[in-house]
Amino acid sequence: MRNACALVIGCALSLVCRAQFAPDMPEDNSGFTPKPGWSSKRHAVAAANPLAAQAGLQMLRAGGSAIDAAIATQMVLALVEPQSSGLGGGALLLHFNGVLVEAYDGRETAPSTADEKLFLAADGKPMPFFEAVVSGRSVGTPGAISMLELAHKEYGKLPWSKLFDPAIMLAEEGFQISARLHLQLSRDRYLRQDPVAARYFYRPDGSPREVGSRLRNPELAAVLRKIAAQGSKGLMQGEVAQAIVDKVRSHPANPGLLTLDDLRNYKPVKRAALCHDYSAQARAFRICGFPPPSSGALAIGQILGILAHTRAGTLPLQNGLPSAEWLHLYTEASRLAFADRAQYLADPEFVQPPAGDWMSLLAPGYLAERAGLIQDSSMRTARAGQPGPVKTSYAPMAEQPEYGTSHISIVDGDGNALAMTTTVENQFGSRQMVSTDANRDGGFLLNNELTDFSFAPTGTTGEAVANRVEPGKRPRSSMAPTLVFEKDSGKLRLTVGSSGGPMLIHFTAKTLYGMLYWEMDAQRAIDLPNFGSLNGPSLIEAGRFPTATLEGLRSRGATVREQSMASGTQAIEITPSGLFGGADPRREGVVRGD
Ligand code: GLY
Repeated sequence: MRNACALVIGCALSLVCRAQFAPDMPEDNSGFTPKPGWSSKRHAVAAANPLAAQAGLQMLRAGGSAIDAAIATQMVLALVEPQSSGLGGGALLLHFNGVLVEAYDGRETAPSTADEKLFLAADGKPMPFFEAVVSGRSVGTPGAISMLELAHKEYGKLPWSKLFDPAIMLAEEGFQISARLHLQLSRDRYLRQDPVAARYFYRPDGSPREVGSRLRNPELAAVLRKIAAQGSKGLMQGEVAQAIVDKVRSHPANPGLLTLDDLRNYKPVKRAALCHDYSAQARAFRICGFPPPSSGALAIGQILGILAHTRAGTLPLQNGLPSAEWLHLYTEASRLAFADRAQYLADPEFVQPPAGDWMSLLAPGYLAERAGLIQDSSMRTARAGQPGPVKTSYAPMAEQPEYGTSHISIVDGDGNALAMTTTVENQFGSRQMVSTDANRDGGFLLNNELTDFSFAPTGTTGEAVANRVEPGKRPRSSMAPTLVFEKDSGKLRLTVGSSGGPMLIHFTAKTLYGMLYWEMDAQRAIDLPNFGSLNGPSLIEAGRFPTATLEGLRSRGATVREQSMASGTQAIEITPSGLFGGADPRREGVVRGD
């Protein structure tokens, strides 16, 4: 972890250093447990934890909508998978109501007094990454609950308060600590420093509570009861809001700027989904994703679109795996997409899209031009393109570590479906656990989403970085909740998304390519080995490809890094015979349905 972070800080914006950058993987690897894939007829919930998926299914069985199920699922995730998402974080939700796709933005915002120097140390240089993360400074105004409340007002069928029942019951009665949570608690170096978190997650000797031991969180139950009764006000105003602000502002080493006004004034945003056409094996699809401030949909669209202008589609799998030539084309397309991401992507309320339209990055002519840059020999590091006649004045953002998330996919029986990716950013977020009552165990963790902003506000030539910190701004995300439709009939074909910082772009793109191009089912596509590039080395999931394939990439001039990649992809496909869901064998996800 330290090496990559030091590298980022030391390298600033140099393209030479960028070529060396390989990320730490978002969250610890917890092995590979084969998953069967799950069939159902009427409705289904795919989530990163069985208790969470079950809570969603409970709502669907009670007549709830996909949105109702998502809220119940999210509340249980906040309890059982606190390392990835929760009340103190943000989320991006893509919803299909049978006719329209709508994007609900619950991304965190920077405090109204934050500025571009937020993550600069006294010497004017970017502060060490984990000094920034483990702090009050990194905490953005949480947005997940306010956004879910908005979506529920529009598409909820069950009473809001009922959606909290499973999580409240589990928080009061306790849940068994999973192997993955235990592993992350064991390896985390910072969570123990927070006294509330230390008392809740760890034993007095500092060791994490055992796998299978029952963990009760009465403080979270109390906060959930407040939100169930009062809506988002229960979190964003009053006693809980005060506890959040106190926690952020009283951090002993690195306090933050969040105020009660920031919380009270938070507004989720409804955006137009970002949709584009895609053809695979002579079948036409429409892929819809989340627009900026997420970079996910645009990067995936660019990678798939650039690949479509190469010979990738003619290259067969070799023993069920992508060949070296295909991986070369994919990783080159990734370099080009990540160069554009670094240059252009940020909160659309604060930056102008290139050529005045984000879709310029997906224009067929532009993608063909970008594909034309791919040669037999690796470019190693790509530069951003210029989709329109006017050159942008932004400087590219250096690749920074970016971490966890959790993905939920749901299809209900009324033709609604959703893909929602949710996050507290780093594993266990900022490691700041909020409690309103010192006599109650537990609480909820605050995000460190502000470290998704560029620490350096300007590039080497003094031009501003698009994704620099500004007051009230949403940090750039990689989250890529995705819905796929058949273009001609308009029928929904798939809901998919993944966890994992910038690599989730590749985890999702791989699953899309596997399903749409290689015609795999959701489970087989998720099972495929992971790969990608963030515009540096070619990153390959360790132990999953033959040596000859890796040599094939190296012989084309790429630096190849093998590493574990704990993707957390969940997907549900809609087939002529019903629903079929897949969950990532690298995590604890499942699909539950009827
Ligand atoms: N912090 C992860 C993301 O938003 O992509």
